[in-house]
Amino acid sequence: MPRRSSPPPSTLAIIAAKRDGKTLSDAWIRWLIAAYVRDEVPDYQMAAFAMAVLLRGMTPRETAALTLAMRDSGQRAHLDAKDPRPKLDKHSTGGVGDKVSLILAPLLAACGARVPMISGRSLGHTGGTLDKLESIPGFSVDLPLHDFERAVDRDGLALIGQTDDLAPADRKLYALRDVTATVESIPLITASILSKKLTEDLDALVMDIKVGRGAFMKTVREARALAHSILRVGELAGLHAHAVLTRMDPPLGRAVGNALEVREAIEVLHGGGASDLVECTLVLGSEALRAGKLATSDAQARAQLTEALRSGRAAERFATVIAAQGGDAKVLREPERLPQAPIRREVCAAEAGYVHSLDALGVGQLALTLGAGRVLAGDAVDPAVGVWLHKKPGERVKKGEPLAELHVRTAGDAERAAPALLACYEIGRDNVRPPELVIQTLRA
Ligand code: URA
Repeated sequence: MPRRSSPPPSTLAIIAAKRDGKTLSDAWIRWLIAAYVRDEVPDYQMAAFAMAVLLRGMTPRETAALTLAMRDSGQRAHLDAKDPRPKLDKHSTGGVGDKVSLILAPLLAACGARVPMISGRSLGHTGGTLDKLESIPGFSVDLPLHDFERAVDRDGLALIGQTDDLAPADRKLYALRDVTATVESIPLITASILSKKLTEDLDALVMDIKVGRGAFMKTVREARALAHSILRVGELAGLHAHAVLTRMDPPLGRAVGNALEVREAIEVLHGGGASDLVECTLVLGSEALRAGKLATSDAQARAQLTEALRSGRAAERFATVIAAQGGDAKVLREPERLPQAPIRREVCAAEAGYVHSLDALGVGQLALTLGAGRVLAGDAVDPAVGVWLHKKPGERVKKGEPLAELHVRTAGDAERAAPALLACYEIGRDNVRPPELVIQTLRA
């Protein structure tokens, strides 16, 4: 094993050490990442390193060193250190219909936190917070870092995308992993997520680790391994984290598609919304308030969150941030100002019964083919199209009753999508209870 202070002999030696299952020193990892960002390590060597990590793994300490090296590859936000409000964020590993960030960010700000949220875009069948926000007319997610910091200190909240200057090592390495079959590595995923989150100057993070057909993690075992890694590495890197494993077998809530999801988020901020979406928001909100020491118990946290929703303070906070980022804040009261698809087509049940299952992956892929998502980073998305799910698992349906509504651009899209959407539903005779949303909560 190399001495921790020894200088790196070469990239080749680092790759070979990891290939042979050795533990890398912090200094070697730091050197490798800095050299990679300076283009002094070619992609083919970095791909070999990523594969060695995927096959051999990393210790939590190595993963923490990788995380910090990636965080330090670019700029970091610096929020007002004298402001006593805790700096909190929530991150989801991604799913279908997951619009919780749109609700939770203003909700936490209304409960006394600062939320410096740097989010991602949709890719494949999973949605992205930035695309949803950009469906609000005028909303800009491209604030310069200094404006972002001031907005968070002023309004308790701002929502932007990852810029070229924030964790550039992750941007470069993720693109490489994507084409070298090295995404599915727990240490690399941990470092990728935490390096970005650590640029936000956070006190605490809540991770929503989605599990199931529509999620990145297909099994509880994989999701648990990622949760343990994030909590442990977060601790070593100075970030207090809680993780909640939640089911992503059916989509979350009733809306899938950018503007439709904003509309549903607004419903929740006004005290309505689908029960699974509300519950997911409250569970993650409760963990965030407890992680940030704004509440000492789940009951206390839920009381604060419910009051912020009931009083309209969370909705007001969302209006403030929309206006501050150039958007049309009137959408809070008049959601019909959001983009709307020209054609709506209901998809009806062929038989009476109960919804036994609804395939999130199928619905996500369908929304993608309608134009709501992107196949390649950089593809344009259509803000208006998507699906509204009238029926979810456990709900009763009569023969001929609408199960869902397609929001599409053309009659041809409706024709093609209707049978595909129907195939996502499984209807049975018996009344079944859908499984609990929350699988497990883990705290550092
Ligand atoms: N999301 C990320 O940000 N990084 C990964 O490596 C995987 C999912």
